[in-house]
Amino acid sequence: MKVIVCRDYQEMSVKAARMIAGQIILKPDSVLGLATGSTPEGTYKELIKLYESGLIDFSEVISYNLDEYYPIKPDNDQSYKYFMDHHLFNFVNIKKENIHIPNGMMQDPATECKEYDKMVENAGGIDLQLLGIGQNGHIAFNEPDSSFYYETHLTNLTDSTIEANSRFFDSIDDVPKQAITMGLGTIMKAKKIVLLASGKNKQKAIAKLLGDKITSAVPATLLKVHPDVVIICDEAAYNG
Ligand code: PGA
Repeated sequence: MKVIVCRDYQEMSVKAARMIAGQIILKPDSVLGLATGSTPEGTYKELIKLYESGLIDFSEVISYNLDEYYPIKPDNDQSYKYFMDHHLFNFVNIKKENIHIPNGMMQDPATECKEYDKMVENAGGIDLQLLGIGQNGHIAFNEPDSSFYYETHLTNLTDSTIEANSRFFDSIDDVPKQAITMGLGTIMKAKKIVLLASGKNKQKAIAKLLGDKITSAVPATLLKVHPDVVIICDEAAYNG
């Protein structure tokens, strides 16, 4: 794993955006694995700037998002579909048919999750996967001790994740208790992984990720066995 420690959130966002831009320049039809949450917001802002300056073109890019709350309607302003439209997709020339986000209203999660994995596979796999990390070490919604789930699946959110995400909702009771998430197997198959972390509250998770142990208690530690992972974090996430 390569670790890039940045001064602050802004520098982290610029570096991450440039890395994604480099991927798109090298391979215009890249398959990008995208993440939601506060952490990648700045990265998406910087990517939009690079697009507006004519440096990158999204017309052939294909995207697959990591996860979505369940159940949630796509027009709910807390859905990850809404997040992606309002933080990236509405501002770049990605084709609608190339955007994939797990459907928060799936009728038959078992079948539709399998189809999601199949689509990723048929697209040739993910070239670059962007990841955040939860304070409890989750990646996407692969929560601690949920066993190393391989494929996309429906999962229960832990109390700590519900609490962490309640900041976006009117009340904690409004936070969905479940989510559809790519599994660790799908994520581990990405050719390159870029994990972002910003702020003191991520320091413990980053320390564990950089420590010696691989454990299902901290799902992100599985990334240690991936051949191409770059962690871009700020000093607060690195040093506390
Ligand atoms: P955050 O979430 O970017 O909002 O901190 C990251 C995560 O939970 O994976």
